[in-house]
Amino acid sequence: MSSENFSENFQFTNPPGWNMVWRMTAASSSQKDIPAGMIDLGIGQPSPWLLPTETIARAAAHCSSHPGRMLLSYGTEQGDRSFRAALSGFLEEIYAMPVEPAGLLVTNGASQAIDLICTLFSQAGDTIFVEEPTYFLARKIFADHRLKPIALPMDADGLIIDAMEEELGRSRPAFVYTIPTYHNPTSVCLSAGRREQMAELSRRYDLTVVADEVYHPLAYTSVPPPPLARYCASAKIISLGSFSKILAPGLRLGWLQAAPATIGHMVQCGLLDSGGGVNPFTSGVVRSAMELGLLNQNLALLKDTYSRRMQAMCAALRRRLPESVQFADPAGGFFIWLALAEGMDAGGLLSKAIERNVEFMPGFKFSSRQGLKNFLRLSFAYYDTPDLLEGVERLAAVIAEG
Ligand SMILES: Cc1ncc(COP(=O)(O)O)c(C=O)c1O
Repeated sequence: MSSENFSENFQFTNPPGWNMVWRMTAASSSQKDIPAGMIDLGIGQPSPWLLPTETIARAAAHCSSHPGRMLLSYGTEQGDRSFRAALSGFLEEIYAMPVEPAGLLVTNGASQAIDLICTLFSQAGDTIFVEEPTYFLARKIFADHRLKPIALPMDADGLIIDAMEEELGRSRPAFVYTIPTYHNPTSVCLSAGRREQMAELSRRYDLTVVADEVYHPLAYTSVPPPPLARYCASAKIISLGSFSKILAPGLRLGWLQAAPATIGHMVQCGLLDSGGGVNPFTSGVVRSAMELGLLNQNLALLKDTYSRRMQAMCAALRRRLPESVQFADPAGGFFIWLALAEGMDAGGLLSKAIERNVEFMPGFKFSSRQGLKNFLRLSFAYYDTPDLLEGVERLAAVIAEG
């Protein structure tokens, strides 16, 4: 089913001028303001028209029609029990494996989960292992906690586990932070074999591995290997998920999956003791969205839309960019990672790009050792295909000028 048909059936609309509305409101929120006429291919968040207002309205009406007074009280520290039961059913389908509600902890989103893990599993001055490149805003959270990232190399199969084992011979990190599936920014997937190796190292070195798996459900052209969540019971893996990527970031709702003993430790923290479980009311609404089948419908719409955009954008990049620019078509997620010719500087190119009304994320932002200068990240999550194609035209002109 095309996204257009899908939109009609589920009354998702793309109102004329939505871009303009977003631009006008963006300045007053934490969003970056996008100047009129600019196509910012660096934005890694859903188009406003993909934010499912009607789905949420239906789910909220359903949730409110049930006696749910407790949703307005402090919630249990681990997160609402019925919500976790519904979430485990959803994850069992996506992950094709059993998921116990007892192994789930409700979070405010993956960002808060990372922050909480830093609080509970590290101390200022500790080293942690991250991928090079890694999610640039996780780098900021690590900096908030005064952690020292050691950057480990990746290749087309994800984090190079042999390099990690070698590094373990030199230092013991508080934890490893990895994005195994449809990585941000490279979109690479850690191979199934390396996932096994990762779990093995976690067991052997008693090493906490934080697997940020927020893009796992957004698979377009391949089925990813089983999530690292698979090893939660047999290794020290904490797997993160989020409704930001599959429903709406404004819900501020996510989860983490870990061994019940780890969850038992986490729920005793001051934050949950004082505030209670995270977001009981929103959990109730999202539980309704799951029970009514609305989450699955939304996910199907997103996958269809993103997959079409990704294919159109990759084809345009292949047509318009010189052969010296390399990239792999992503099989899921939000991002395309471009390698410019060695010696080129994406940061320098960005100022020229802005003059031509196109932007991107320069690679150095994702580097923990001030490298990756000739890389840049594009996203197809925010704009519809015509704008993406126009953005590629502008980018190609900038790259051609050097
Ligand atoms: C890898 C990764 N982790 C976490 C997040 C943030 O997730 P949340 O909105 O659940 O805090 C993002 C958003 O871009 C991301 O790309």
